[in-house]
Amino acid sequence: MPVITMLSPKGGVGKTTTALILATELAARGSTVVMIDADPNFPLTRWAQKDGRPSNIEVIPQIDEDEIIGTIDDARKQADYVIVDLEGKASARATNALMMSHLALVPIQGSELDAVEAARAFKVVRNAGTARQRPLPFAAVLTRTPASVRLWPRDLKAVVANLEGAGIPMIPTALAERGAFRGLFSIGGTLHEMTAADVGSLDSARQNATAFAYDVLSMLKEGLSA
Ligand SMILES: Nc1ncnc2c1ncn2[C@@H]1O[C@H](COP(=O)(O)OP(=O)(O)OP(=O)(O)O)[C@@H](O)[C@H]1O
Ligand SMILES: [Mg+2]
Repeated sequence: MPVITMLSPKGGVGKTTTALILATELAARGSTVVMIDADPNFPLTRWAQKDGRPSNIEVIPQIDEDEIIGTIDDARKQADYVIVDLEGKASARATNALMMSHLALVPIQGSELDAVEAARAFKVVRNAGTARQRPLPFAAVLTRTPASVRLWPRDLKAVVANLEGAGIPMIPTALAERGAFRGLFSIGGTLHEMTAADVGSLDSARQNATAFAYDVLSMLKEGLSA
């Protein structure tokens, strides 16, 4: 079943958060999801150890770097979706994960520096497509944006214009900066069990997450039918 890999050589751009938002939304739609936690800090494994993990999400800590292909192969046979969360640096493990993927998502925060690092990620993805003789669909994901487009700073708008100019596909729904998204890790579980007493603007965060997952599924479908 489809394998979606979160990738960026830059640390802290929102790979793990984006992975978990996507997984919890897919699970809420009734799909089974395996998340492969390929970050030596194991943030998703820690999330899974808290209360509230839906039974249709399994998190597998990827301890042996050399085993990622086998781990993804096993996971795709048992789950509707496989989501791979990589650490924030280029590695053989990242390349191997891309060889097995149907979609690569590259989270970007809105600064020039992020855009430069993301360009490296797009190159790695294109190279993986060349190596396996089958293009790997990919898209940028804008993360931690102001919730309202009207409030987007000039830097962020410039990054978007550059991506568009370079013909880089983008997931139309950006993930806004939301306490609820941080809360996934501090509280555990999903946005659907959180309460307004836990975090603010919960409904907006839920709507944002749902719209984002819908966009990712559309892109995945496009890629699979291409
Ligand atoms: N949409 C968001 N809203 C609020 N906080 C966010 C959002 N996305 C990411 N963050 C916060 O930004 C920080 C970095 O996010 P995250 O750990 O997801 O990035 P990463 O790319 O996986 O980092 P690393 O490269 O270290 O694995 C975390 O503190 C996280 O809570
Ligand atoms: Mg991470």
